[in-house]
Amino acid sequence: MDDLKAKYLGQIADAGEENALEAIRVAAVGKKGEVALKMRELGKMTPEERQVAGPALNALKDEINSALSAKKAALVDAALDERLRNEWLDVTLPTRARRQGSIHPVSQATEELTAIFAELGFSVAEGPRIETDWHNFDALNIPSHHPARAEMDTFYMHRAEGDNRPPHVLRTHTSPVQIRSMEKQGAPIRIICPGGVYRADYDQTHTPMFHQVEGLAIDKDISMANLKWVLEEFVKAFFEVDDVELRFRASHFPFTEPSAEVDIRCSWDNGQLKIGEGDDWMEILGSGMVHPKVIAAGGIDPDVYQGFAFGIGIDRLAMLKYGIPDLRAFFDSDLRWLRHYGFAALDMPNLHGGLSR
Ligand code: DAH
Repeated sequence: MDDLKAKYLGQIADAGEENALEAIRVAAVGKKGEVALKMRELGKMTPEERQVAGPALNALKDEINSALSAKKAALVDAALDERLRNEWLDVTLPTRARRQGSIHPVSQATEELTAIFAELGFSVAEGPRIETDWHNFDALNIPSHHPARAEMDTFYMHRAEGDNRPPHVLRTHTSPVQIRSMEKQGAPIRIICPGGVYRADYDQTHTPMFHQVEGLAIDKDISMANLKWVLEEFVKAFFEVDDVELRFRASHFPFTEPSAEVDIRCSWDNGQLKIGEGDDWMEILGSGMVHPKVIAAGGIDPDVYQGFAFGIGIDRLAMLKYGIPDLRAFFDSDLRWLRHYGFAALDMPNLHGGLSR
């Protein structure tokens, strides 16, 4: 037994890694290890011999096990020390002068408009990008065979074969968040919902994924005049000018009645986009008084409550404000473009400090 003890404690002391320790454990105190074999011999001994050998074998087993765990802990500590010696970082080094990352114009514009609408009393609501057919269409008074569905160039999600439920869609606008917010919060409600939306469309001013911000204000006494005021205040604050020329055009949306589209005066000279001057108009938003059916779909009584809604293209706002002519470049991840049009990461837009510096 002394030989066994000397042999295994020696091996354990010499072991340089955890795998070696495991091999020693199996050979010494494993089910078929040397100590177990010795224990089997107890049966052949006289009771007197057994009384001495039994406890001694158990003590040996315990001793080997403790030596194994102590050595294992020592190996783990040594490995950690080794890593700490090799992986160090001098946190007192100065930061690099060149900006490493920057804020994308869409994120910047989103922060800016969130700050403006917060000041006007609107809070931020969100909804899923993979939306039910009902929230994206039906609840917004766009039934199955309505032509607006075809006009939207919708991306449909896959359904398993034999599953005849209407497929989910990549939301084609942020308007379904109106429904989800009314369902959740009831009335009165004053929210904006910024986020990504999807349509199969691609040219200088259209990309398959783009961004909108939805606005919704429902209460007992809200009128079209409130809508016009809010939009004018917003546009002036966003473009940081005292006056912008807006054109309210009578229009049609299934979810509003009456409806208006709003254009902003701009020019496109030599690929340079400027707002507030020139003979062109760029459509930036759709709006109107929320259709009673939509209010009812949100679980609110349209005989008591009414209000306005609007949907603004965030990317287009950013293009106009920052003179970016091609929308497609927004999503190319071209570092030169991002460095040129990006914003410093630590400048948070707010109305007092300035939206964009
Ligand atoms: N959902 C419309 C679209 O994507 C935009 C829109 C128009 C939103 C009128 C509204 C609204 O809330 O009232 O084209």
